[in-house]
Amino acid sequence: MDAKTMRAIQYKRYGGGAASLQDVKIQIPKPKKNEVLVKIESSSINPVDWKLQKGMLRPFLPFKFPFTPVTDIAGEVVEIGPQVTAFKVGNKVVCKLNFFKGGGLAEYAVVSEKETVLRPDEVSPSDAAGLPIAGLTALQSLKSIGTKFDGTGKAANILVTAASGGVGSYAVQLAELGGHHVTATCGARNIDLVRSLGADEVLDYNTPEGQSLKNSSGKQYDYIINCTTGVSWSVLKPNLSKNGVVMDIAPNISNMLAFIWGIFTFSKKKLKIVVLSLGKDDLQFLVGLVREGKLKTIIDSKYPFDNAQDAWSKSVDGHATGKIIIEM
Ligand SMILES: NC(=O)c1ccc[n+]([C@@H]2O[C@H](COP(=O)([O-])OP(=O)(O)OC[C@H]3O[C@@H](n4cnc5c(N)ncnc54)[C@H](OP(=O)(O)O)[C@@H]3O)[C@@H](O)[C@H]2O)c1
Repeated sequence: MDAKTMRAIQYKRYGGGAASLQDVKIQIPKPKKNEVLVKIESSSINPVDWKLQKGMLRPFLPFKFPFTPVTDIAGEVVEIGPQVTAFKVGNKVVCKLNFFKGGGLAEYAVVSEKETVLRPDEVSPSDAAGLPIAGLTALQSLKSIGTKFDGTGKAANILVTAASGGVGSYAVQLAELGGHHVTATCGARNIDLVRSLGADEVLDYNTPEGQSLKNSSGKQYDYIINCTTGVSWSVLKPNLSKNGVVMDIAPNISNMLAFIWGIFTFSKKKLKIVVLSLGKDDLQFLVGLVREGKLKTIIDSKYPFDNAQDAWSKSVDGHATGKIIIEM
């Protein structure tokens, strides 16, 4: 390969799924004043990556074509912009690339130092690459309901749905670390795994109990972290305690309407929509938990860069257990 070019996976238009991803050779980007150039070791795919390809935020995202998707990467800094002070060449890092620029399915990416945190040697590139979108969403959902991770918080009765997914698998572990009583839903094949992550009770979502979200004690939930579009407000609401709140990371239409309804009424039971924000401190906190062995990235599968299309299809299928990783 020419020293100034790199391999990247791109798509040129909306739609087309994995089949429209093309393996191309493009210029290695040059870091601007506050950016670093990262040689990517691992990237992780999130549902938002293929939802953007489908045109979920058309015409705003992707902003222009051809587009190199994926935002979550881990790797090594190989060049720094003239005003970068927090990083130097050789630093191991994890980054959440900007949604507008993408760039994570490539051998190199430029990224703002604001979107980059240091990664200690004990945290592998694949474990780190799983963290940005999924880990931050789980952490921010739990922080927004007042969860503390230093033992000073108030324990609550919590339900995490789709606990076997990328977000859910982090959410269960963080809820347990926060001292909450955790009920979780997942498919039968993942019950033992989800229990091992710290859930006190696990419901198979294909059973009547799992469908109704009812735990064995019959106690209603103070909070529900809803990580699937498959559960609607009509099922969530009866399971909430008097002032219970749903933090919905994947609202379907009925849940969006419930959110709007909640704004205009005095209903005590509420549904709030979670929108991820970068939070560099939050990402550093997650990396620290992984280093201390308090948080694990559950890895569904690892694919070589040559098989990035297969990784993409796996995410589109919606049945990953944890994170889908691509190794460069
Ligand atoms: N608001 C935000 O900022 C934000 C951030 C991140 C993600 N999201 C959204 O949140 C959703 C989850 O993301 P993710 O990365 O966790 O997805 P994911 O890893 O693809 O989730 C897949 C997992 O969900 C399980 N699942 C699917 N339907 C279920 C149901 N009805 N009940 C229980 N488990 C179910 C699947 O289990 P089986 O294989 O057994 O079916 C699978 O293990 C996606 O829609 C994503 O776009 C939103």
